[in-house]
Amino acid sequence: MRKQVIAGNWKMNKNLTEAVELVSGLKVKLSGKKYTCDVIICPPFTNLETVSSLTKDTDLQLGAQNMCFQDKGAFTGEISADMLKSVGCAYVILGHSERRTIFKETDEVINKKMKQALSNGLKPIFCIGETLEEREQNITIDVVKRQVTEGLKDISAEEMKNIILAYEPVWAIGTGKTASPEQAQEVHAEIRKLVAELYTKEVADALVIQYGGSVKANNAEELLSQPDIDGALVGGACLTAEDFAAIIEAAK
Ligand code: PGA
Repeated sequence: MRKQVIAGNWKMNKNLTEAVELVSGLKVKLSGKKYTCDVIICPPFTNLETVSSLTKDTDLQLGAQNMCFQDKGAFTGEISADMLKSVGCAYVILGHSERRTIFKETDEVINKKMKQALSNGLKPIFCIGETLEEREQNITIDVVKRQVTEGLKDISAEEMKNIILAYEPVWAIGTGKTASPEQAQEVHAEIRKLVAELYTKEVADALVIQYGGSVKANNAEELLSQPDIDGALVGGACLTAEDFAAIIEAAK
């Protein structure tokens, strides 16, 4: 059985004071509550160290939102895997659609980052998903297959144990338009089938595939009850302790 994983992607939100407030609030909301899923929070770089010390005595795990594909050196403005690990990160979001579209990250760059993360002991939350235009052209599965195949190039079956995949239809991100549970399940099942072809059925069955795109407290349970949806990557709704805690509680 796959364990569900709920991750909160804060994106470019919360300064240090606000970050302390949010994490403290979340700790209060979750204290004494029984939840069975893994929970990862992914604040901006500037909050990582503080959030790491605030969550030390909890089950909350820490992730970053991006990372450089190089070890170190003359890469102004970039952050390395080693730096992320040194402030307590276990995870890193890679290939988010905002990185792909706004910052022009290609499948090739994302693949380099994936390999860099894995070889440095960081677990990627590897994001894929089609745009509205691609869905309307009926090429969703082709797009997702290309992103999976290219992003996982030269990554071994053993390394797949340390990867979480997140299917996030771009048209559902931050728009309030969630994919229906059936729409999401259909793509998740296709992704799992593809991973079985690229690796083995065993690798595919063990892979956690999150759904992302306007996941809220009121739709989480239905999405998470689909057989191939193993968690959620949450944007907007992770910015308040109450909403994020409600999504965590919806994961069974
Ligand atoms: P959203 O963002 O929940 O605000 O739609 C999800 C994401 O981009 O990871």
